[in-house]
Amino acid sequence: MSHRILLLGAPGAGKGTQSKKLAEEYGIDHVTTGDALRANKDMETEFGTPRSFMEAGELVPDPVVNEIVKTALSDADGFVLDGYPRNLDQAEYLSDITDLDAVVFLDVDDEVLVDRLTGRRMDPETGEIYHVDFDWPDDETIRERLVQREDDQEDTVRDRLEVYRENTEPVIEHFRQEGDLVEIDGEATPEEVFDRIRDVIEP
Ligand code: AP5
Repeated sequence: MSHRILLLGAPGAGKGTQSKKLAEEYGIDHVTTGDALRANKDMETEFGTPRSFMEAGELVPDPVVNEIVKTALSDADGFVLDGYPRNLDQAEYLSDITDLDAVVFLDVDDEVLVDRLTGRRMDPETGEIYHVDFDWPDDETIRERLVQREDDQEDTVRDRLEVYRENTEPVIEHFRQEGDLVEIDGEATPEEVFDRIRDVIEP
């Protein structure tokens, strides 16, 4: 069975962490607008480069992101979509291009989100994500090369949370009203959260 899963949640809710596990478990594509945009930060578009929006914690204009998602989904047999849609216009665009089997919302308190994001570090060689408190590597060579994402500084994190409240919470409300949304408490270990999601996808 193909799986078309949409994972929603605030910045730092664990979308990237859980999407990676879901993609491995079900052999589906992990489609993430954040990673796609980071890989194309300096791409020239009619609106400028994605970099200027991302470093300010703002949304990259819809036409740029819609195109990325359309291309990625048309190539995928099954997918877990992470970081999109982030506003109601993107949600409408998504409903025009695909159907979904599950819409999962990871619910996490604001102060936990800030701690998770400001403590996040990335290994530039492998792309692996760590956390200074919850998931710190034993290997010193790895520790020394870890970097912090530019938009994970506390001020930008708070701006991203505001953009989320204003633009993305209405998307969550939209799916809730349609009766499609499954809400999961995202404040547990990554393994426990994963089990909760799997229980929803395979009841
Ligand atoms: P994007 O990359 O999508 O970032 P985000 O949505 O803000 O979410 P994050 O990736 O920061 O968090 P996450 O939920 O994946 O958390 P993670 O699993 O890493 O977007 C970045 C920017 O790109 C946007 O600001 C915007 O400019 C642009 N953009 C992207 N999509 C766009 C769109 N559709 N339209 C317009 N613009 C767009 O976890 C965080 C940390 O917590 C990690 O360190 C992890 O190890 C740790 N952690 C995770 N789970 C747990 C747990 N259960 N317990 C303890 N620690 C945990």
